[in-house]
Amino acid sequence: MNRKVTVVGGAGNVGMTVARAIAEKELADVVIIDIAEQKAAGVALDIYETCPIIGSDSRLIGGADWSAAAGSDIVVITSGKPRKPGMSRDDLVRDNFEIMKSIAPNLVQHCPNAIVVPVANPLDAMSQALFRLTKFPRERVIGMAGVLDSARMSTFVAMELKVSVENVHSFVLGGHGDTMVPLPRYSTVAGVPLTELLPKDRIDAICKRTADGGAEITKLVGTSAWYAPGQAAAEMCDAILKDKKKILPCSVFLQGEYGIRDLFVGVPVKLGAKGVEQIIEIKLTAEEDAALKKSAGAVKELVDVIGM
Ligand code: 2OP
Repeated sequence: MNRKVTVVGGAGNVGMTVARAIAEKELADVVIIDIAEQKAAGVALDIYETCPIIGSDSRLIGGADWSAAAGSDIVVITSGKPRKPGMSRDDLVRDNFEIMKSIAPNLVQHCPNAIVVPVANPLDAMSQALFRLTKFPRERVIGMAGVLDSARMSTFVAMELKVSVENVHSFVLGGHGDTMVPLPRYSTVAGVPLTELLPKDRIDAICKRTADGGAEITKLVGTSAWYAPGQAAAEMCDAILKDKKKILPCSVFLQGEYGIRDLFVGVPVKLGAKGVEQIIEIKLTAEEDAALKKSAGAVKELVDVIGM
């Protein structure tokens, strides 16, 4: 492979899922970096050994040495404490900020040209931290949240209407927290807006379940979700590595778009080889706009806590 993706924190549940998904899609070689050096080496070897079975020529290595990450096209940051039942994503802000502070100098030193995909929570604040600490251009720091939240919403819509998930297209904007903004008006089933297909109370229930989606899994499993978050990060890598120009909801540094400035918030963006190639501004109703601003306010509070 002539492409390389590094997964930092790659011996954890989310990181392993990202690494495996990239190898399975034969998108790139994968470097797994983790402070759990031996586990990183083992996980990389185990996934590598799946490649003859799945027919992928991705090569994987793992360890704690960042020099292996040099030349990466993308670095996915999955390091960070996961949630325990009852915790909100925001409860992790201080601990995970310390982890981002230890990662940023390595990004600058070993991967100065990479596109960074933060996954750690609270997602928008950690993306902002990595953006400020690395001083990378905003096009190259792209937080993973909207792909996950939209996938959750699509799952619930498909369950409710008993249709293929492939028919469902969902849109979720805002911060990756309790204030996220599912947009039923722009969510469709075979092109038909959700608002034409379900009564308001059912739509409200789907939106609430989407916003609570991470907590629902954490309560059931005892720790944060990993399959859907990992697959969502891999989907972003796919769009970037194949230069697909795919429009996906991602957390990016807004500079006036949607009336929000100097803050990472989830909005639709066009992802291609250069990272964020366009921020798509869609028309919102007054109510939707107010919800987005409220969500941005919640992100701003967290960003202020860490002084970023
Ligand atoms: C989630 O929503 C871990 O934030 C992630 O499941």
